[in-house]
Amino acid sequence: MSALATSAAPQPRPPDTRRVEVKGLSKSFQLAKTTIEAVRNVSFDVRRGEFVALLGPSGSGKSTVLNMIASLIRPSGGDVLIDGKRVVAGKATSNVGYVFQRDTLFPWRSIADNIGYGLELAGVAAHERKERIAECVAQAGLKGFESAYPSALSGGMRQRVALMRTLIVEPQILLMDEPFGALDTHTKIDMHEVLLRIWEREQQTVLFVTHDLGEALTLADRIILFSARPGRIKDMFEVDFARPRDAVKVRETPRYAELFQHIWHSLGEEFVKGRSA
Ligand SMILES: Nc1ncnc2c1ncn2[C@@H]1O[C@H](COP(=O)(O)OP(=O)(O)O)[C@@H](O)[C@H]1O
Ligand SMILES: [Mg+2]
Repeated sequence: MSALATSAAPQPRPPDTRRVEVKGLSKSFQLAKTTIEAVRNVSFDVRRGEFVALLGPSGSGKSTVLNMIASLIRPSGGDVLIDGKRVVAGKATSNVGYVFQRDTLFPWRSIADNIGYGLELAGVAAHERKERIAECVAQAGLKGFESAYPSALSGGMRQRVALMRTLIVEPQILLMDEPFGALDTHTKIDMHEVLLRIWEREQQTVLFVTHDLGEALTLADRIILFSARPGRIKDMFEVDFARPRDAVKVRETPRYAELFQHIWHSLGEEFVKGRSA
């Protein structure tokens, strides 16, 4: 094709791969007579299928940002767009799933009924529910525990149930707020394996809040580092380890050590500021 023909042809627009757009988000809370500025002017985009970690010390506004994206909190300023549509506080966005840090299982429901809860709400027929619950139980390594109650399970197993309860309705965007924060180191790495395998297959767009740098490096394509309060974006880091990743082996690579050291210093500065705030 000649150069002339190329320039005359209509140029196809590149597909918009932005799934989540955060534009100038701010949030202040009023506590009695004091105003707490939690988040100041935070902007970033997340690509379709990207795994982004929001990393920062406790109190740096990570949950507040996630909750504004989830439409659970109304911003004091700025906007969130999901697939180009503005998020309205109080109105659930379809396609978005949320996994909390707290164990939010229903103690009176069996494991199978906890996992199937979202399908029940959606009016999915019993026989289809049964099939999909069985798939999720298998994926999460919970076979044999279907009829047990949450109190009979370890913390790691309960968090697998919570993860599957969100994933069973197949959300394309996953918001996760320190979902493994209460687990011991080895159980946590186990959960990283579970999540990595699911994400490799389903390619959800993930926003994962954590204060744990190792966790962010293991999972994410990109780390957004928050400053101490008021939370602002201090820095961003591309995490370029090959996929698929092995949650144990990735930690043994020289590149992991290099990135860890690089980000650790910057994160440490914010921990210290957060302590004295
Ligand atoms: N509902 C609220 N009322 C008052 N202050 C709040 C509220 N939610 C969060 N904050 C304050 O906002 C700051 C950021 O909180 P948060 O987003 O939970 O931080 P992180 O998730 O990074 O630990 C903290 O100082 C916290 O005390
Ligand atoms: Mg938090």
